[in-house]
Amino acid sequence: MRSLVVAARARKLGAGRALLAKLEAIARSLSGAAPCVLAAEVLEPNPAHAFYERLGYRPVSWTTRIAAHDDASRSGKGWHARLATSQDAYAVATLEVPLAMRRRANGDERFDRAREVDASFVGVLAAHLGRARGPLEQCEIVAVDPRGAVRACASLTVGSLDPPFVPARRGLLGRFAIDPAMDCAPALAALVALARRLTHVAGAQMLELTDLDPPGTPMYAAALAVGAAPWSRISMRAAPLRESQT
Ligand SMILES: CC(C)(COP(=O)(O)OP(=O)(O)OC[C@H]1O[C@@H](n2cnc3c(N)ncnc32)[C@H](O)[C@@H]1OP(=O)(O)O)[C@@H](O)C(=O)NCCC(=O)NCCS
Repeated sequence: MRSLVVAARARKLGAGRALLAKLEAIARSLSGAAPCVLAAEVLEPNPAHAFYERLGYRPVSWTTRIAAHDDASRSGKGWHARLATSQDAYAVATLEVPLAMRRRANGDERFDRAREVDASFVGVLAAHLGRARGPLEQCEIVAVDPRGAVRACASLTVGSLDPPFVPARRGLLGRFAIDPAMDCAPALAALVALARRLTHVAGAQMLELTDLDPPGTPMYAAALAVGAAPWSRISMRAAPLRESQT
């Protein structure tokens, strides 16, 4: 859900609750027997957080935002980031496990649970990472530590905002998968530095860092430390199944 607005003079009369209830019923009927979750993105800060909380939504994922730019200086401490290749398939597959676990720990049920790292998974990833590249509007990037090991990855998408927003392009860097055995700050800094350049080259002015852990965690602190500012959060709730689905 997004762009939910009730006219100022009609607020606190139940209109917002009624709109969400209808959207929920539509989402449930469209999803048939499949599990259905309702997710709302709300900008920070916003009194609407209390509204969603009242209706049973819980924040599960946080976004910060930073300007894109073309600074080509290397990130600190000997780390760097580069585009992922098919050679990185095993490392990326392994990093998918802490990513899935991190999302579940935050209560984010929009994504699959961690899957086994087997040959078929690595093969599918290798094919995906090795595909011919078009314009760099959707790509996977990896962060490499000073010893040359891949320690983190993330996905970058640069695209246009959908109506009703003003026509503009933005970068979205998400799926942060970082080796949980290490300090996430240098890896995140390297990923963000490259994503800012790629976003700039793709003609967008701002880069959103999505899919972050909550404020107060090392990952969120690392995002603020590179200069990003709080932007939005996703709040979610599971849509109860109809009786016929239970
Ligand atoms: C957020 C918004 C959509 C809520 O609509 P609304 O019609 O006023 O909400 P409802 O009357 O259905 O309220 C449902 C419940 O949430 C509570 N609630 C609503 N707004 C609240 C607020 N700002 N703070 C705390 N609780 C709030 C109500 O008290 C009610 O609880 P109750 O049933 O226990 O009494 C409306 O305030 C709005 O349009 N805000 C500006 C736009 C915006 O921020 N949209 C969200 C971002 S996409």
